[in-house]
Amino acid sequence: MKKRIQEKFKTLFGAEGTLYASAGRINLIGEHTDYNGGYVFPGAIDCGIMAAIEPNGTDLVKVFSLDMDEFVQFHLVEESIPEQAWARYIFGVGREIIKRGGKVGGFNAVFAGDVPLGAGLSSSAALESTFAFALNEIFNEGKIDKFELARIGQSTEHNYCGVKCGIMDQFASIFGKAGSLIRLNCKTLEYKYFPFNPKGYKLVLIDSCVKHELASSAYNKRRASCENAAAAIRKNHPEVEFLSDAKRLWLDEVRDQIPEEDFLRAEYVIGEVQRVLDVCDALERDDYETVGEMMYQTHFGLSRLYEVSCEELDFLNKLARKMDVTGSRVMGGGFGGCTINLVKDSLYDAFVNAAVEQFTARFGHAPKVYNVVISDGARKL
Ligand code: GLA
Repeated sequence: MKKRIQEKFKTLFGAEGTLYASAGRINLIGEHTDYNGGYVFPGAIDCGIMAAIEPNGTDLVKVFSLDMDEFVQFHLVEESIPEQAWARYIFGVGREIIKRGGKVGGFNAVFAGDVPLGAGLSSSAALESTFAFALNEIFNEGKIDKFELARIGQSTEHNYCGVKCGIMDQFASIFGKAGSLIRLNCKTLEYKYFPFNPKGYKLVLIDSCVKHELASSAYNKRRASCENAAAAIRKNHPEVEFLSDAKRLWLDEVRDQIPEEDFLRAEYVIGEVQRVLDVCDALERDDYETVGEMMYQTHFGLSRLYEVSCEELDFLNKLARKMDVTGSRVMGGGFGGCTINLVKDSLYDAFVNAAVEQFTARFGHAPKVYNVVISDGARKL
């Protein structure tokens, strides 16, 4: 990938660009908790986005996407917003830096990625983080702190891509550290690295290769349900800023004041916030059985209460349970994408083979299997 990027940069711009990269992410547990002020437990992975970038002394941005084989240029003013979805991420990052009082001049860039698209591995956060990190170094002497770089990526999604996401993906992509997961409190942004090397187990992702068209609007709808439930609870308990501040009992108090759907969404979130903490405790004891059990509970909640799973992902989860896989659940925003599975070494081959065979027989296309390594986040190469 590196060589292809450098060669293309040379052909297009007649120079060597400086290389930057950032990563996709996995999340062990803590799904849809980030925008509710709860905990998440992600880590950056060994696939992501790489870009060669160089300032060009003008105010024009010129970018080539190797994967899309497409060239786009724009000015960093609102009227110049590009049509191409991929270019909006880069445009948005530039705009968000400028809105915060930072500088971004014109630059040339070529980029490519090896993080699967639409698999729930946050290819978009990897793209945002690569450019946020690079533009901070190139034009702002690295003065924007890493928290703000993550927020710049998040605001890009909100303001230019139509997704009211939380901070998890961008945070993991910026703060990721090889070998460690990050427990992040999304309300305070306090975080702690947890070395993650479960002896005798492997993490494997099984990608259903299903993508749902309306995922962004369904995602925003989930968020609105949670905010609605939190607002109802707040009337009785003013200390509730986010849904994650609420006790389960407080949710029951407002059951007949909110739509049943919002109640179910909130029920899931309150349970999930606690599960992240339980998983962290279990990890400190090397108790992977409990970690796995919590993953199954999360899947149940995401499927039945939050309703972001789908037939294909439920099938993979059920198969994992049947084969005594330690833990399994849908990962990321949902509406397609992957399951994340915690599998004993001794069961690994049998599980992966069975998943591929039985999924293919049932749905007529093969799932993809990813063995990810927990790796570093945004960096200059
Ligand atoms: C997507 C969003 C994140 C988070 C997850 C679900 O990946 O970008 O902010 O909400 O879904 O946990």
